[in-house]
Amino acid sequence: MNTPSNRLIIFDTTLRDGEQSPGASMTREEKLRIAKQLERLRVDVIEAGFAAASQGDFESIKAIAGAVRESTICSLSRANDRDIARAAEALAPAERKRIHTFIATSPLHMEMKLRMLPEQVLEQAKNAVRFARQFTDDIEFSPEDGSRSDEDFLCRVLEGVIAEGATTINFPDTVGYAVPEIFGETIRRLRERIPNSDKAIWSVHCHNDLGLAVANSLAGVMIGGARQIECTINGLGERAGNTALEEVVMALRTRAAYYQLEVGIDTTQIVAASKMVSQITGFAVQPNKAVVGANAFAHASGIHQDGILKARETYEIMRAEDVGWTANKIVLGKLSGRNAFKQRLQELGIELDSEAEVNAAFGRFKELADRKTEIFDEDIMALVSDEQQAHDKEYYRFVSLAQRSETGETPRATVVFSIDGAEVRCEGSGDGPVDATVNAIESRAASGAELVLFSVNAISTGTQSQGEVTMRLSHSGRIVNGVGADPDIIVASAKAYLSALNKLHSKIERLNPQN
Ligand code: KIV
Ligand code: ZN
Repeated sequence: MNTPSNRLIIFDTTLRDGEQSPGASMTREEKLRIAKQLERLRVDVIEAGFAAASQGDFESIKAIAGAVRESTICSLSRANDRDIARAAEALAPAERKRIHTFIATSPLHMEMKLRMLPEQVLEQAKNAVRFARQFTDDIEFSPEDGSRSDEDFLCRVLEGVIAEGATTINFPDTVGYAVPEIFGETIRRLRERIPNSDKAIWSVHCHNDLGLAVANSLAGVMIGGARQIECTINGLGERAGNTALEEVVMALRTRAAYYQLEVGIDTTQIVAASKMVSQITGFAVQPNKAVVGANAFAHASGIHQDGILKARETYEIMRAEDVGWTANKIVLGKLSGRNAFKQRLQELGIELDSEAEVNAAFGRFKELADRKTEIFDEDIMALVSDEQQAHDKEYYRFVSLAQRSETGETPRATVVFSIDGAEVRCEGSGDGPVDATVNAIESRAASGAELVLFSVNAISTGTQSQGEVTMRLSHSGRIVNGVGADPDIIVASAKAYLSALNKLHSKIERLNPQN
């Protein structure tokens, strides 16, 4: 068996497996923003979506393939000609493209889900890779539910697809059933038993149902010899999620002497990526989450604080700034000019497409600075994201709000917003001010959507912080997230609700690849 090289490929699937988390759907513009951030993070491969899933996924992959130059762009496809051709079409503008095709190989999935015999699955897998080879030399194959598949059968399938030209073999623990030693050993044995295994790079794709995704991935690398890890920002993904990029990368970096593997990631972009994904999907990061949680570098106990002041290494194994945490400092104020604002955007790695967008964001900044004396990096990120949402076609647009609540009285709200450019004014009452606001909007929008999540987060610290509200709506099987930020949390709620309605209005349908 060949010794694999010491360069580890980081394959990010936030935009594909991550988006499969119930409620984490993203628009094309949001996916493009995340893809650009993943490029800044220097991710080697970006799985941009599943082209055959929907027109929206197709368009998103195409836009990313046209805009991102430094990373390989990948589309998932089931093992059939139609899906593969669709993936190839979406990837056409990419400088470097990969088709990732998969079919289930476990007895349970073949019999109950696919209703196919193992021989049929073997043939379909080989045919798929052969067909995909017409479009690119970079082909990844995954035997879905690999960790619960029969090893002899896996050997036949994987040898067959490598012979057809698969260049990456990804071994998925689809249901998060694996444990590290067994998972790593299985990959090692497969590589040993399959005669042409050295013609492909081996990869791991782990789900976190038992909280073992990162450990399994690292075992796949150290014991199994895999040289690609599939992961997502914040560990987003189906059910309990996938291997978290930030955790696996920082484990490799922090324990470099042990792992002796190189990764190309610019770790200083990790926190920005985490905040962007959390803000867009409405999936808040838990405070004690490794690396990117708000408390990951906070030291509360006296003994720890004392140690840190004397020598940082006493209680810190990583430096906060190495993963992109900045001190929660006031960066700009009311008197800051456009150049200072633009410079701060650059320092935060925020790219706006045109001077017109910079001007619009600067206008929002001035408005905010009039109402809020201290502006933090987090405020800037939120207002830029607001501006980018506004840039996406807005059918509903917030204009103004008046609200009244008093102990013992029913809260009432008057909301002015525009529908396709025409201003409407509506009133509502409810159990609380947010309820009254949403009822006022619904009295005109009449979406019939069900609110499945309402969350409010303080963007920075102190009571003067902006509130960032996420509203998740469900309608006819579709789930969308709307986000709004404002120092007034009732206004932020109205903006979030209207932003979610805009997404429902855009009618993008999608299909889960595992279905
Ligand atoms: O979990 C899984 O098996 C997948 C495959 C499509 C790789 O996401
Ligand atoms: Zn998966």
